[in-house]
Amino acid sequence: MKLLHIDSSVLGDDSVSRSLSAEIVAKLKALHPSIDIVYRDLASDVVDHLSIGHIAARYGAPVEEKGLLGDIAKGEEYLAELADADIIVIGAPMYNFSVSSQLKVWIDRIVVAGRTFKYSETGEVQTLLPAAKKIFIASTRGSAYASGSPYAAFEHHESYLKGVFAFLGLHDVTIVRAEGLAYGPDARSAAISQARGEISAISA
Ligand SMILES: Cc1cc2nc3c(=O)[nH]c(=O)nc-3n(C[C@H](O)[C@H](O)[C@H](O)COP(=O)(O)O)c2cc1C
Repeated sequence: MKLLHIDSSVLGDDSVSRSLSAEIVAKLKALHPSIDIVYRDLASDVVDHLSIGHIAARYGAPVEEKGLLGDIAKGEEYLAELADADIIVIGAPMYNFSVSSQLKVWIDRIVVAGRTFKYSETGEVQTLLPAAKKIFIASTRGSAYASGSPYAAFEHHESYLKGVFAFLGLHDVTIVRAEGLAYGPDARSAAISQARGEISAISA
């Protein structure tokens, strides 16, 4: 069994999503002691933004530039890690109403026509990923976005991630959420405690 653990916060040791994603991984390791874990810290080790060179290479253009070759190779590693994973755990902070740009860059490398999905002739999306996967997202945000809240329409974070994974045929997504983190120390610690309670309830 393989677990892919991804962090994408730029806040280092102060990051809440990093500590929650680590706790989710520890819980899953306790449930599945022989699980193999691959870790990607997208804040310290990230691929470049897509460029015309990347897209041309996808369509068979020869690549001679060393930097681009290495970057494309790392994107291939991302694809292989995604395909191999049975479980994916993602630390996903909300920055400016969506995912961090570091996480978006990863998404740009794993949502690839002909590699992870294809369209049928009638326009349906077919996944090309080899197996179903379980996904856990440690979602952290300064404000709160429940339906009915004044900011609900700004929520392009969990809904975006769920949409991306559903597009790839991955529907088993569990969100562990700590929100309202900017509402003061009491609200912050209550939100983190609630998320920790959700983590201890993970049973598979
Ligand atoms: C650059 C930046 C942008 C942010 N944008 C938002 C935002 O749009 N909405 C929100 O509710 N919180 C926002 N926050 C607050 C973060 O979501 C909050 O600090 C959360 O803890 C981030 O997760 P992390 O601690 O793992 O980095 C932002 C924080 C930063 C640093």
